[in-house]
This record gives sequence, structure tokens and C-alpha cells, in this order.
Amino acid sequence: MGVVALVPAAGRGERLGYGLPKALVPVGGVPLLVRAVRGLFASGRVRHVVIAAPVSDVDEVRAVTAPLAPAGGAVLVLAGGAERSDSVRLALVHALRELPGTTTVLVHDAARAFTPPDVVAAVVDAVEAGHEAVVPVLPVVDTVKQVDADGVVVATPDRAALRVVQTPQGFAASVLLRAHESGLLATDDAGLVERLGVRVATVPGHQDALKITTPFDLAVAEALLVGGRA
Ligand code: C5P
Repeated sequence: MGVVALVPAAGRGERLGYGLPKALVPVGGVPLLVRAVRGLFASGRVRHVVIAAPVSDVDEVRAVTAPLAPAGGAVLVLAGGAERSDSVRLALVHALRELPGTTTVLVHDAARAFTPPDVVAAVVDAVEAGHEAVVPVLPVVDTVKQVDADGVVVATPDRAALRVVQTPQGFAASVLLRAHESGLLATDDAGLVERLGVRVATVPGHQDALKITTPFDLAVAEALLVGGRA
């Protein structure tokens, strides 16, 4: 089973206001990145993880994540790039070089530290069932407006047809490589793959897989712990 999870964790995380790279910010005493990597391994589908770390923290990230790997697996750590997409591309190239049997690649934000292992497993299973690209999604609960440059509403898309996208996003390795070599731009990996004309399938996501970006999100994460959900 040639599954590798890439974890872009090189962001500065300034919006959290912690003075630490976001991946190393603790929730309940455990860094977000450690929780995210544990969740990947706990799915039972992932034995190799490649982390793009802040350039100043490669050694520390290696030290805290190396013990998490299961028997026969490994955590590889390299320095990330200037943008998230650069970090993913660097991790992907490293993974394909170091783990040449890789057929399925997940891309999972360190910031989604509480993603349930079942979501990870569902994404891997869907890729291995033949989907070239798979994303976990949630329904949209708010009405969404499209606005122009002045903030004036120009359209109200049908909410029933909209989804919020989470990670891990899963791909056939060759498809993700093609997407990252294309020079196209998108805000997520599935967006790049869509631009190549590849069909992107969905599986159910989970509320606990929220992206921890602001102090409010951190408070929600702490509440998940208190509630025994994570
Ligand atoms: O900043 P944002 O929350 O959108 O970042 C999403 C993920 O991408 C985070 O886990 C962050 O660490 C990672 N990232 C990265 N390299 C960058 C910027 C962000 O790996 N240059």
C-alpha cells in the first residue's frame, strides 16, 4: 500500500499570535502538528508522512515527530517553501524520491489537527477505489454571497450545491505531480487538479477537522479536548 501523507506545516501562523510557528502551537500541551500526524497514522492507512517544516524549526519538528511513526513506517522532515503550494511541491518531490513505491498521496494541513482518523481512511479508500482526486467536504450552513470589488452583492449561489472543503485531500501520485508541475495556481491542491480537467470526488468531512487559524479556533480546539472528542 504505497500511501504517503504530505503535511505542509511551514506557515508562520501569525494570526494565532503565539510567537511560535503554528504547527508547534500546543493544544492541551501537544503541538498541533503532533496531533495531526498521530491522526494520520491512527487511520491505519498511512505509514509514511513527509512534513514541510519552517526552515528555522526542521530539527525540532524532526525530534517531536520521529517517535510517532509506526513499525515499518517513517516521518521525513524537510524545510518548506515561501507559499503553501511551494511546501507541498517540495514535500511531494521528496516523497517520490525517497519512497518510490508511492501510488497515493494525501495532502493534510497541520492546522487540521483534530481530523478524525475515519476521515483520513475514507479519503485513502476512495483514491484506492479508483478516484484520481478526493476531498472531504461539509455542507454549507450559511447563505453565501458573491460580491464585486466594492463589496456589492452580485450573486447568491444555490447553497445546496456548495461545499466547504477540508483536508486530507487524496490523489493518485502521478496526478498531483502533474498538477504541481503545471505552473497553474489555486488555493488548494484539488483546485490545481481540477484545472487539469481531472474529476474530483468527495467524501463526508467532519466538523472536528476545522482549520485552526485564529485564537477563536484554538479555543474551539481546547473545548473539543475538554469534551473528550479528541
Ligand atoms: O496559513 P494557512 O493556515 O492557510 O496554511 C495552511 C497550511 O499550510 C498550514 O498547515 C501551514 O503551516 C502550511 N504552510 C506551509 N508553507 C507555507 C505557508 C503555509 O507549509 N509557506
